[in-house]
Amino acid sequence: MKLGFIGGGKMAAALIKGVLKSGICTPADVTVCDVHAPTAEKLRGETGVMIAASTAEVVGASEVIVLAVKPGDALAAIQGATSQQMESSMRWAWQGGGGKETKLLISIVAGLSIASLEKAAGDKLRIIRVMPNTPALVLAGASGFATGTQATDADAEIAQKIFGGVGLAVRVKESLLDAVTGLSGSGPAYVYTIIEALADGGVLMGLPRDLALQLAAKTVAGAAEMVMQTGMHPAALRDQVASPGGTTIAGIEALEAGGLRAALIAAVRVASQRSVALGATK
Ligand SMILES: NC(=O)c1ccc[n+]([C@@H]2O[C@H](COP(=O)([O-])OP(=O)(O)OC[C@H]3O[C@@H](n4cnc5c(N)ncnc54)[C@H](OP(=O)(O)O)[C@@H]3O)[C@@H](O)[C@H]2O)c1
Repeated sequence: MKLGFIGGGKMAAALIKGVLKSGICTPADVTVCDVHAPTAEKLRGETGVMIAASTAEVVGASEVIVLAVKPGDALAAIQGATSQQMESSMRWAWQGGGGKETKLLISIVAGLSIASLEKAAGDKLRIIRVMPNTPALVLAGASGFATGTQATDADAEIAQKIFGGVGLAVRVKESLLDAVTGLSGSGPAYVYTIIEALADGGVLMGLPRDLALQLAAKTVAGAAEMVMQTGMHPAALRDQVASPGGTTIAGIEALEAGGLRAALIAAVRVASQRSVALGATK
C-alpha cells in the first residue's frame, strides 16, 4: 500500500515505524513531507522512508494519505498553498491524476471534525478520521476511527488494516471520538504517570530505581494482558489478588483514600472536554 504522511512528527513517526514493523508497508511505499526539514531527515535516517518536498508530492505518490500535523496547521495543510495554481495542482493530485478514483485521506488530527475536513478538502474526498495513540510504535496502539460521508466499507477496511496492524482499532460513531481521545489518545500519558509513581513507591521502600521501573512497567503490562486475555472484569481479577487481611487490600485502601479512581475518571472527562473545545475552535 502506498502510504503518505503530511507531517512527520511524533505520532507520524510512531505510526510509520509500526506499519514498517507490521509489514503492511515497506520503506519505499511510504512518502513523508514535513515543513521542518530536520524532522523529515531524522525520519528518513531512522526508517528509510521517502521524503517529499511538498504536500502535493506526497498526495501524488500515495493511495492513502495520513494527515498528521497539529490541529492549528491541519486545514492549511490540506488546502496546500494559497495560490490558485497550487490549489488546482493539489486538486488534480487528490483526484488521482485525473483518474476516476480519488485518494483516501486519513486524519489523525485531534478535534478536527469530518465535516470541517470535507469542507476544506472538497466534498468528493473519501475521509476517515482516526484517534490513534503512540504505543502504535510497538504494535500495541489503541485507535478509534469514524468514516466520512464519501468513505466506503472498503476504506474502513483499509483503516482497520493500517491501525489494526499496529494494535487495536475500533470503528465508532464520530461523536464518540472525543471520548476516545480522552481515554486512549491521551491515556498512555496517564499510565506513564502511574508507572513512574509505582516505581517511586518501590524506591521509597528500598528498591533500586531501575529495578523498580522494570517491575512497575511489567506489572502494568501484565495486568493489562490479564484483562485482555481472560476477558474477566478487572474487579474480579483484583479480588483474586486481594486476600482477606492481606497486603493488597491494605494497598487498595490507600488508593481509594488517595482518590486514584476518581482522578482517572476525571482525567478522561476533562481530556474529552478539551478535545470538544479544541474542535469547536476549528
Ligand atoms: N502525539 C500523540 O500522542 C497523538 C495522539 C493522537 C493523535 N495525535 C494527533 O496527531 C497530530 C500530530 O501530532 P504530533 O504529536 O505528531 O505533532 P508534532 O510532533 O508537532 O508533528 C507535526 C509535524 O508536522 C509539521 N507540519 C506542520 N505543518 C505542516 C504542513 N503544512 N505540511 C507538512 N508538515 C507540517 C510540524 O512542523 P513544525 O513543528 O515546524 O510546525 C511537525 O514537525 C496532531 O493533530 C495530534 O492531535 C497525536
